[in-house]
Amino acid sequence: MGMTLEQAKEKLEKYGQQHVLKYYEELSEAEKQALLDQIEATDMSILEACLHKEDLAQKGVISPLAAMQIPEIEANRESFTETGLEAIRAGKVGAVLLAGGMGTRLGSDGPKGVYNVGLTRKLYIFECLINNLMDVVKQADAWIHLFVMTSDKNHDATVTFMKEKNYFGYREEYVHFFEQEMAAATDYNGKIYLEEKGRLSTSPNGNGGWFISLKNSGLLDLVHREGIEWLNVFAVDNVLQRIADPCFVGATIQKNCVVGAKVVKKNAPDEKVGVMCLEDGKPSIVEYYELTDELMNAKDENGDPAYYFGVILNYLFKVADLERTVENKLQLHIVEKKIPYLDENGNLVKPQQPNGYKFENLVLDMIHEMDSCLPFEVVREKEFAPIKNATGVDSVESARELLKRNGVEL
Ligand code: UTP
Repeated sequence: MGMTLEQAKEKLEKYGQQHVLKYYEELSEAEKQALLDQIEATDMSILEACLHKEDLAQKGVISPLAAMQIPEIEANRESFTETGLEAIRAGKVGAVLLAGGMGTRLGSDGPKGVYNVGLTRKLYIFECLINNLMDVVKQADAWIHLFVMTSDKNHDATVTFMKEKNYFGYREEYVHFFEQEMAAATDYNGKIYLEEKGRLSTSPNGNGGWFISLKNSGLLDLVHREGIEWLNVFAVDNVLQRIADPCFVGATIQKNCVVGAKVVKKNAPDEKVGVMCLEDGKPSIVEYYELTDELMNAKDENGDPAYYFGVILNYLFKVADLERTVENKLQLHIVEKKIPYLDENGNLVKPQQPNGYKFENLVLDMIHEMDSCLPFEVVREKEFAPIKNATGVDSVESARELLKRNGVEL
């Protein structure tokens, strides 16, 4: 039962978006209905926020949150690992791969995970991640459910690829795909672009929607059925990351925290990573562009920088606490992007410069919903090799270097 044209008009008028029906009369019946369905499904209430963007990022009072650092971790490694392995063997730990992003900076067409980082052989990003997870499966002698988030833009390509590659040796019954939601993209006045005459321009709504999307997909039922109590969320682009790391899992459990966050020591006070902190007494992350000079130079009681530990998008969430907070609205992030659109004459334009906004929620904002968080330090050279760009910083080149140093044959 889709929306009728009358209902669509009413909704569009409410949000000042009537222009998206410009080509309606030219469309086939099926295209008309598809457009009406899309209008129905699109949350337009968020769009006007772009007209007063500066009001969005109001932070509370920031204070330091101590991280568990490497000497402490090493002193307790055995005990943490034992606790973590126990939880894994009991089936209480699942992993969530965030792979719904567009990877525009890398500039390859397919999903980021199908990118080949190998030199003398094929070694795909997805393969690196599965290999890393397999280490733990072997260590624990237990399979771990892996949930893979895709988007409308890359779902089929991702699923087909993984199937074709036989999940790189992972057991099919333990791999589950789900799609994230999409959000409309607008020009600088908050007007939705069209990407086709019968289609609003959309992009994935950010990685912060992963839990809601998991729930909406029905997979949360599986989580319950299987007794999964912890979900380790991680990004597709860090090819060195440890997934369901028993030591990290065990430390978070032993410290009675409802979320753990892997962090690395920043390599410079102004490095572009978000840092862990408390905000109004609750765990939070300050983004690098929100970090004032005062915070950047603040020292803790040992004389070390107080905001020293950057997040690497590897979090262990307690499922019960995710469920408790799932209805809470996360902060909206409005980002300038290049958005393909139809011009006045109905021709598709692919802009070279940013021309509007995308609307996103971010997983890091979920941390602030949690009552306690353990920042857990890891060795950067061993666990952090993000691939954001083709060359330069955080690139295929830098990641290859790090993979080699960690004994991965390319
Ligand atoms: P990034 O912030 O690097 O975004 O994502 P991106 O879209 O992949 O890349 P650019 O900015 O266009 O170059 C960090 C992680 O979050 C996932 C990505 O797949 C990556 O693992 N992500 C991002 C999603 O799953 N959904 C999104 O909507 C955005």
